[in-house]
Amino acid sequence: MIDKFDMSERLVTDRLILLRRNHDYDEEMLQVLNDNRDFLRRYLFWVDKNKTLEDVIGATDMFDKQWTEHKEQALLILDKQSGALWGCIGPHAIDFFNREAELGYWLREDKTGHGYMSEALKAVEEKLFAGGMRRLVICCDKENTASSAVAKRNGYHLEAVRKERLYTYGEFHDEEVYVKFA
Ligand SMILES: CC(C)(COP(=O)(O)OP(=O)(O)OC[C@H]1O[C@@H](n2cnc3c(N)ncnc32)[C@H](O)[C@@H]1OP(=O)(O)O)[C@@H](O)C(=O)NCCC(=O)NCCS
Repeated sequence: MIDKFDMSERLVTDRLILLRRNHDYDEEMLQVLNDNRDFLRRYLFWVDKNKTLEDVIGATDMFDKQWTEHKEQALLILDKQSGALWGCIGPHAIDFFNREAELGYWLREDKTGHGYMSEALKAVEEKLFAGGMRRLVICCDKENTASSAVAKRNGYHLEAVRKERLYTYGEFHDEEVYVKFA
């Protein structure tokens, strides 16, 4: 067991600011979700549960509680120049006993293809490994090649395929598990 630690509430990279999710961004979050709903909902099932401002406010409250309880620590991905909200990243299933965490992430569709997620991931990994985590995991639908490409591009290796683990809009899909060690 390692001592519990928090993700930094603010991390700065070359092009991005990663900021603890908070209510200042609820309206912009709803706008980003509305503008990218079809793109995001394919692999992110929570998207359909965030349709109104009240839904997003409730989700931010939930993330706030999860942060305090060290269960999930969501960071907003902001453009360093304009401060605009481009996506999210963060660890969940944080396990201080086994020193493992899973990583989740998403970007606005028009901000994909520039290496922004890889840049954000590197900063998050550095913080988690420095705190004593030794096993970081990325799970994705086998069909989600954009997400598995992020894992592979950043040095994760395929550890397992969980057959038909994901019920995806009426079909069962295989899930890939990618792992990177400290
Ligand atoms: C998964 C997701 C975040 C990937 O975004 P991404 O922009 O492709 O990821 P990266 O930041 O690693 O960028 C890599 C791309 O940027 C390009 N790129 C440009 N400049 C780059 C740089 N400086 N560094 C790295 N890549 C760069 C790469 O060539 C690559 O482009 P390609 O896809 O045409 O080969 C995005 O597709 C997404 O949000 N999908 C929907 C939500 C989702 O599925 N989330 C994951 C659930 S498991």
